[in-house]
Amino acid sequence: MSAATKVCSVSELSPSAALRVIVDGKPIAVVMDSAGTVHALGDTCTHGDISLSEGFVEDDTLECWAHGSKFELTTGKPLTLPAYEPVPVYTVSIVDDDVFVDPTPIDHSDSVAV
Ligand code: FES
Repeated sequence: MSAATKVCSVSELSPSAALRVIVDGKPIAVVMDSAGTVHALGDTCTHGDISLSEGFVEDDTLECWAHGSKFELTTGKPLTLPAYEPVPVYTVSIVDDDVFVDPTPIDHSDSVAV
């Protein structure tokens, strides 16, 4: 069982920057995009043991600083190699100035037609 956990305040986030938090033992990158929307995705790159929150936010992606894979903020999917597996994405809710993250990954598998 998991529940949304307060991870930070909106005012602690900067546009186009990521903040590393731990929820239920999981490292999660909380990212505010340039439009002000807050996203949460797995902080560990699927290509190597690198913290994605140390990388770069560019448009709707978070780029790993090690080898340049860009992960889509909304789906966690890598848009560029060398990473080819997605990072998990999590539900963000904002109440007043508080940012909450539910550590249960959002399932995007049903959006893939086979
Ligand atoms: S460790 Fe992230 S792209 Fe290689």
